[in-house]
Amino acid sequence: MVDAKTSQSEDDVSTDAPVTRIALLGCGHVGSQVVRLLTERRAEVEAWAGTALELTGVAVKHPDIERSGVDPALITGDAAGLIEGADIVVEVMGGIEPARGLLLAAMERGASVVTANKALLAAHGPELYAAAAEAGVDLYFEAAVAGAIPIVRPLRESLVGDEIDSVMGIVNGTTNYILDEMTTRGLAFSDALAQAQELGYAEADPTADIEGDDAAAKAAILASLAFGAVVPGEAVHREGITMITPEDIKAAAAMGAVVKLVAVATRLDDGAVSVRVHPAMVPLGHPLAAVHGAENAVVVQARNAGRLMFLGAGAGGAPTASAVMGDLATVARNRCRGVHVPAMTVTQGGRIAAIDEAVTASFVSLVVRDEPGVLAKIATVFARHGVSVAEVRQNHSQTGRSAVLGVTTHASRDSQVTDTLSELSAMTQVVGGRIRRIRVEGS
Ligand SMILES: NC(=O)c1ccc[n+]([C@@H]2O[C@H](COP(=O)([O-])OP(=O)(O)OC[C@H]3O[C@@H](n4cnc5c(N)ncnc54)[C@H](OP(=O)(O)O)[C@@H]3O)[C@@H](O)[C@H]2O)c1
Repeated sequence: MVDAKTSQSEDDVSTDAPVTRIALLGCGHVGSQVVRLLTERRAEVEAWAGTALELTGVAVKHPDIERSGVDPALITGDAAGLIEGADIVVEVMGGIEPARGLLLAAMERGASVVTANKALLAAHGPELYAAAAEAGVDLYFEAAVAGAIPIVRPLRESLVGDEIDSVMGIVNGTTNYILDEMTTRGLAFSDALAQAQELGYAEADPTADIEGDDAAAKAAILASLAFGAVVPGEAVHREGITMITPEDIKAAAAMGAVVKLVAVATRLDDGAVSVRVHPAMVPLGHPLAAVHGAENAVVVQARNAGRLMFLGAGAGGAPTASAVMGDLATVARNRCRGVHVPAMTVTQGGRIAAIDEAVTASFVSLVVRDEPGVLAKIATVFARHGVSVAEVRQNHSQTGRSAVLGVTTHASRDSQVTDTLSELSAMTQVVGGRIRRIRVEGS
């Protein structure tokens, strides 16, 4: 049966179509582009949504600043007042508070929400998802993960009839740019970072990017969607890229791989969810190895659909605003039809596995004495901890006294590799210097 609302013409918005009032919180890189698209694409979005759209105001921190392309009459410093009359609140201001309080208040009043705020969702997602369910409103957040790339909607809707085995992505453009420059131009980490800052790919304070925190927030959202589990941002194990050296990049190249900062979410045999962000050697044949510059990409392995890849701009005002507009159109349409979609479906208790339980292959680089029997001693330690060695490469020093061993392992539990490395580092008669380990993903 088709009801009167769903059978209405989708070609245009009739004069008696309902008006949807939109409050925009934030008018920075993303918000200003949302305002532009709301003007440029209004007719198409209204026709699709079946409702007229009225931007009732734009809340900012500094209302006295002039903003090109935005009607000054719309600007306000009173975000709390603005959301009172809104049907949909679009939050692109960032940060935790006041964004969290404003969105909770908006939903309690019956407004639907569109947000690009990954930090907020990683920290307070469950509270916000519950508030949306309680109020019977939509909470959409496509732009919170990987900017313009549609990945939230595929995980939340398109693949709901499938079973997801893993999600692996490059979800931070800044670190991908830095690692790509180190790989393709041989730059040191600090030089590549300085270049990223000059070009505007990295913030003046790049900590959240280079230490993996930004990627961890997105990994938490992806894992929650993929596995129907509550994954708080702080539960995501993270390692940044500050320790990656040109030697690591060369070692990766020697084994036909590139170093990437990856976000990985998998389900372990006992159903626990393993979520982590760390640098990894990715074989050249894997689609993520071909993701260059500041681009993002996510590879989803689904039981029935197989391998799916999503690639594109992970940030930037216009690309992110494009994702916000898609959400806005859908939420407006849902409201007209009197429906809402669950923000997050929690189907399992979702024990979050410790990093020790993760199962990955590893590359281990160590400096050893160049003398007979050393290789056997090293191999014995790996074997004692149940870590199977796939390949050993050896580079002799010019003096002939030491050699650099590059050991690639088969997939093993993280704790087994950690135990192996701590035993090796105690063997000071044989092993000297720092032992380096980089996980291998996607082989
Ligand atoms: N930029 C991207 O490429 C990108 C990509 C994906 C997701 N996101 C997410 O999108 C959100 C916005 O990012 P952005 O880059 O557009 O940030 P931005 O350029 O810093 O803009 C933030 C906007 O919010 C306003 N604002 C901040 N605090 C406020 C407060 N307490 N009350 C009212 N207004 C306030 C600011 O007002 P003033 O202008 O007066 O300072 C500004 O207009 C963040 O959650 C971010 O993580 C951004």
